Amino acid sequence: MTTEKDNLRTSIKEAIDSQKRPTVTVLSSLLAIQDSIGYIPEEAIEEVAVHSNTSINSVFGVASFYPNFRFTPPGEHSVEVCWGPTCHLKGSTEILEIVLAKLGLVSEGDTEDGKVSFRFNTCLGACSQAPVLSLDHELYGNVDSDMAEKLLGDLDQNKTTH
Ligand code: FES
Repeated sequence: MTTEKDNLRTSIKEAIDSQKRPTVTVLSSLLAIQDSIGYIPEEAIEEVAVHSNTSINSVFGVASFYPNFRFTPPGEHSVEVCWGPTCHLKGSTEILEIVLAKLGLVSEGDTEDGKVSFRFNTCLGACSQAPVLSLDHELYGNVDSDMAEKLLGDLDQNKTTH
């Protein structure tokens, strides 16, 4: 019988093996895993160590050096506000304040109920539509305060129906 832990390990190995690049490094493997399952569990550190023929300590050293890695599963919803130069100039401060207030957060992190993970992004790749917000990996451009209120309001509805 396969357990949840077995499935997690399989997903981790698949993420490591899916890298189509000439040089696979500890960092590239960790990025591939986080992209695939959303975080870096203990099992990922072990598998990357085996795959890279290095120690668990050195893999953990790399993982903990980069603030973008998370070690706990993300919330069911993700919200990112772009904080890059263009979005900043086009008013992302106000959007950020609205989002943080709606989520009851003061900075990056997970909501108290663990349902929503919020983070800053340095560029969501849609600068011409600044300010940009990402909700569950979907991009919204030219966001104004009303739109931010509405998007986060809809998320509240979603949260309660789950
Ligand atoms: S700076 Fe915000 S999308 Fe590029």
